[in-house]
Amino acid sequence: MYRQPPARPGTNLTFSASLQTQQKVYIETYGCQMNVADSEVVTSILDRESFVSTSDPSEADLILINTCAIRENAEIRVRGRLAELATHKKHRPGILIGVIGCMAERLKEQLLEEEKMVDLVVGPDAYRDLPTLVRSASSGIKGVQVLLSREETYADIAPVRINTNGVSAFVSIMRGCNNMCAYCIVPYTRGGERSRNPESILREVRELLDQGFREVTLLGQNVDSYHWKSGPGQSIGFASLIEQVALVSPQLRVRYSTSHPKDMSDEVLHVMAAYPNICRSIHLPAQSGSSRILDLMKRGYTREWYMGRIEAIRNIVPECSISTDLIAGFCTETDEDHQHTLSLMQEARFDFAFMFKYSERPGTLAARKYPDDVPDQIKARRLQEIIDLQNQISANCKQADIGKVFEVLAEGPSRKSEAYLSGRTSQNKVVVFPAEDYQKGDYVSVLIHSATSATLIGEAVKTH
Ligand code: 5AD
Ligand code: SF4
Repeated sequence: MYRQPPARPGTNLTFSASLQTQQKVYIETYGCQMNVADSEVVTSILDRESFVSTSDPSEADLILINTCAIRENAEIRVRGRLAELATHKKHRPGILIGVIGCMAERLKEQLLEEEKMVDLVVGPDAYRDLPTLVRSASSGIKGVQVLLSREETYADIAPVRINTNGVSAFVSIMRGCNNMCAYCIVPYTRGGERSRNPESILREVRELLDQGFREVTLLGQNVDSYHWKSGPGQSIGFASLIEQVALVSPQLRVRYSTSHPKDMSDEVLHVMAAYPNICRSIHLPAQSGSSRILDLMKRGYTREWYMGRIEAIRNIVPECSISTDLIAGFCTETDEDHQHTLSLMQEARFDFAFMFKYSERPGTLAARKYPDDVPDQIKARRLQEIIDLQNQISANCKQADIGKVFEVLAEGPSRKSEAYLSGRTSQNKVVVFPAEDYQKGDYVSVLIHSATSATLIGEAVKTH
């Protein structure tokens, strides 16, 4: 059986009794950076209830999977993983398994019915209820809490950083999305857009700096529409927020994601140009190069508008790298539309791209109104052409970096050898170089001498 707990009386719900003995929680995170940040919020909420984190599911009392619903594949993967994790229950029947995040929000009670190993299902705006739900589940009452909120930003919760390199951290600045792109499940799984109080953002950033972090990535589904009413007739937008974060310290790098081409303003670009510690890297999802498809997708811009935004970036922040997201085989896409996507890629010369086959998501506008009529083999062929072209463009961009000196923020030993450090340039490119006496957290000037498909390789140069 399951029950729906009563609606929350307020956002500052506290509990008179914490869970008695210290228990262990294992969290596995799928999907976007926002989910990584949410897992840190969940860890903090459970930490207050004397749960300690473990990286080993076989010793956990509570296993949580923070899920993604963006494509069908993401959900299939989670179901496979749930089946694997269920084996832990065979050995230790007392443990609890919870599904949280976007797939929990999309499927609600259906998840308990279909996946018998699941004890609790909790959506992205209901994490404050996790302790109560865990307590009920421990006494045999399975629970579902998937209420979406218009206000919840978890602003007062200090995230507990898990799997951290101690150098870079995510800071969530807003939640939800109002864009309603025709293909996208996010507005349904994460609700409407709301911005987080800038004071709490700045406080979190200062604390991270004090703890030794050297880079923050400000996260939101559409950062350009960040908006906080600071007083009567006064408001703070994203340009002002990012400037305030940049001013916290010149020693702290600032990144942000994701921008929306219809909202990305020149004002933000001018702030970037004025502050060298705001990283020269913009993620600007194009989705398609065909204005007809963009219109069907309800993206709110044409190909020409998109290219105008690329030009603005190149003019105002010339050394900026640009990455994108592209979808192959959206409803009614013809070969001609697909060719427009390939030509957009040639024109824009993206440094990097995330590339996907269109996957119909139940309940979205596209699922309700358009036929998913591009056969799977054609989607696959188009996706492969997009990937092949992007690989060429990325390789050319990397070749062009050879001989240049970049300031690299060292993040830790390289994957292959302790003798090398790995870090990233302001443009978000991974660089590996001999460690010498450098430590993680150092800014190092590195001369690039070669490149592999994913990495630039170089060595430190003394600047003075
Ligand atoms: N099918 C394929 N890709 C999708 N994305 C979002 N929804 C879908 C879908 N239904 C992609 C978009 C988005 C990225 C996060 O995922 O490119 O920018
Ligand atoms: Fe992130 Fe979207 Fe996946 Fe939710 S559905 S985890 S918002 S990518």
